[in-house]
Amino acid sequence: MATPEEKLSFAAAPGSVRERLLAIREEVEKKIGTYESSKSLYEFRKVILDNRKGRIAELMQIIREVPKEDRPAVGKFINELKEWATVRFQETDERIRKQELLKKNAAEDIDVTLPAEETKFAALHPDTLVINELIDVFAGMGFEIYEGREIENDYYNFTALNTPKDHPARDMQDTFYLSEEFLLRTQTSAGQIHVMEAKKPPIKVLSPGKVFRSDDDATHSPMFTQMEGLVVDRGISVCDLQGMLDTFSEKIFGKGVKTRLRPSYFPFTEPSVEVDVSCFACGGKGCKLCKGTGWIEVLGAGIVNRHVLENCGIDPEEYSGFAFGMGVERIAMLKYGINNIKALFESDTRFASQFRD
Ligand code: PHE
Repeated sequence: MATPEEKLSFAAAPGSVRERLLAIREEVEKKIGTYESSKSLYEFRKVILDNRKGRIAELMQIIREVPKEDRPAVGKFINELKEWATVRFQETDERIRKQELLKKNAAEDIDVTLPAEETKFAALHPDTLVINELIDVFAGMGFEIYEGREIENDYYNFTALNTPKDHPARDMQDTFYLSEEFLLRTQTSAGQIHVMEAKKPPIKVLSPGKVFRSDDDATHSPMFTQMEGLVVDRGISVCDLQGMLDTFSEKIFGKGVKTRLRPSYFPFTEPSVEVDVSCFACGGKGCKLCKGTGWIEVLGAGIVNRHVLENCGIDPEEYSGFAFGMGVERIAMLKYGINNIKALFESDTRFASQFRD
């Protein structure tokens, strides 16, 4: 294409037109290479080529100042500049768009052969798994769920449970006192009293909840979870307790697991027992888990002490009951082979994720 200079060789063309044509051409040449985005190039294109306000359109106005006979030549030349500029802008725009596309593709580059990132799923805490399982087993036997309160007063946690202030059994549980009267419950047994005060027999409740004791080692934590059970009705005896325990043991620890009752002491049960299950790891032959004895202690239980029934306005001549209480963490540790109770409270997701069903 002819350059504006060559075209503007005729004498009649006023110097001002020539200057302005060259100025526009020079400006386009100088700047067009500096744009990196099609958007900014488009803005520059408007400055030069806009049909009404562009620099070339403005130039068209001055055609009137040119002598009549020179007008066609000048008009033709301006048109040529316009065409030249149009092509320059188009070429540059194409080049920039291509680069933009390459950049965009590079940014979105995905390697479909890379292994997928592992999705992390939430898992239920072992305590929750055990609680759910226990609730399942006992709900099947007709137990209702009662959730007591974590802050108790002395009466519910001790006195009503046949453990008055000077009773030596209070030393069995290192209590966190909040005041003279209030404390963090040391046992879910406190819930027994609330239940028996609110409801007349027949009673069959299961009560899970957090309890607190000033105790801290590999198998004890200052906060842990208990599962309490209470049955009160006419003619309840140790046989009912034993029968229920057998069902519970087989369902929780596996078929063929047996129970054994050993005499024990709790102020609120009489007689009181410690309940062992035959070792589900070795079948009773003796192993590391059962420390060679063939038996594993899992809970405390007993026949509800008549004083406790009386404290709740239930006539011990008419009704009797049994109660049991177990440590949920202890059951979880036994079932899942966890040897330090701390693992259950550290919230390490690598630990927790192992217990997905
Ligand atoms: N509350 C007792 C404890 O924490 C367990 C228990 C509950 C024993 C019910 C007998 C009956 O050790």
